[in-house]
Amino acid sequence: MTSVTSSVDTSAAYRDDRAHVFHSWSAQALLDPVVVAGASGSRFWDEAGNSWLDFSSQLVNVNIGHQHPKLVAAIKEQADKLCTVAPIHANDARSEAARLIAELAPADLNKVFFTNGGAEATENAIRMARGHTGRLKVLTTYRSYHGSTNGAITMTGDPRRWGSEPGMPGVVKFWGPYPYRSAFHATSEAEESERALSHLADVIMVEGGHTIAAIVLETVVGTNGVLVPPDGYLQGVRDLCDEHGIVMIADEVMCGFGRCGEWFAFDRWGVAPDLIAFAKGVNSGYVPLGGVVISDAIADTFATKAYQGGLTYSGHPLACASAVASIGIFKEEGIIDHARHLGDDIVGPALADMATRHPSVGEVRGLGVFWAIELVRDRATREPLVPYNASGPAAAPMGEFAAACKARGLWPFTHFNRTHVVPPLTISDDEMREGLAIIDECLSVVDHYAA
Ligand SMILES: Cc1ncc(COP(=O)(O)O)c(C=O)c1O
Repeated sequence: MTSVTSSVDTSAAYRDDRAHVFHSWSAQALLDPVVVAGASGSRFWDEAGNSWLDFSSQLVNVNIGHQHPKLVAAIKEQADKLCTVAPIHANDARSEAARLIAELAPADLNKVFFTNGGAEATENAIRMARGHTGRLKVLTTYRSYHGSTNGAITMTGDPRRWGSEPGMPGVVKFWGPYPYRSAFHATSEAEESERALSHLADVIMVEGGHTIAAIVLETVVGTNGVLVPPDGYLQGVRDLCDEHGIVMIADEVMCGFGRCGEWFAFDRWGVAPDLIAFAKGVNSGYVPLGGVVISDAIADTFATKAYQGGLTYSGHPLACASAVASIGIFKEEGIIDHARHLGDDIVGPALADMATRHPSVGEVRGLGVFWAIELVRDRATREPLVPYNASGPAAAPMGEFAAACKARGLWPFTHFNRTHVVPPLTISDDEMREGLAIIDECLSVVDHYAA
């Protein structure tokens, strides 16, 4: 059986896709995918020669930009040398990748367990926390995404979880800080931080601190809003974890590896977790890779007792060689500094200016190359431009915004009532300004919905 949607694109790639490829998170018959023929730097294009400035970095993972020649060369070189090796053996690419990642992590996080992506990273992080503490429960926030395998989707707070419920036993949700839509009626960042911590302390009290293995947080919440934690919040979570012997897990899958203008987002607040889940930006997805960076204390638990988890492709040489090359390129090209510059000097000021001119903009927020523009119907009531988890006609205004961007040569990242500004960290100042000007123009397309 085939289900083909109408499209001007009738290439074999398009036809075979519609006939045989089953896509993530989608009603298959409603899809009309662009056939991506190539990409370079911050742009990609289709077979007909239409091109877009990639303001989504695909899935917020191509931090280094498309087709970086040195990264491509490193993968080719490794392919010639050794393509695959079982996880039990040692291998130079894997060893070096682990050392380089451990060197970037806080002082007592010295070991790396490699996975193929982010879900396996968060999944294994909680497995380690449970093995280490002998406890079952895991606390996560409602506004979060941690991956789509059974444990990771149960940890996830957003609606993608609903289709997989009841999921894994032992996961308890709480509210994290979100000053613009405070669950705590806070009127300042300081109040939000204090009240969110007090709420978390209450959840720990009623769940029983001694039953909780881990608290899992996206250091800066990604898809669910680019929620930057107010100062003091992460330290407060760290203190609660220490008080109760709970493992603190930072999910840095989206916010890590330069996205926030730091190697790891938590570096900005000087707070060290016990486990770091990473993926995406570690090698910009040129070859699938993720992993967990592990504290000495947790690694020691598994020094003489076997760790109960594994993957055929854990520490795959092609993936690890690309991580080694990518970290080297980041250092050589000063990509972290560039990301910080883009945020501080270009994106932040430009979005703040847009917020003053567009009635549809409720709030802009972010850091580094990780920004959200929250669209509203009414700035006073903060009613979102489209409802939470809207689809179909209810989501039309966001569809209009996205279509306007694409028609002008920019591929946006949109989620619910927000658009995120998340191009590659290597984007030039001029390309960033070009993309922001398109966003500015497209906000005018939806301003009429706002009061
Ligand atoms: C914060 C976070 N954690 C985990 C994941 C899951 O990663 P993957 O899709 O590689 O399994 C994602 C993916 O977007 C993510 O943003």
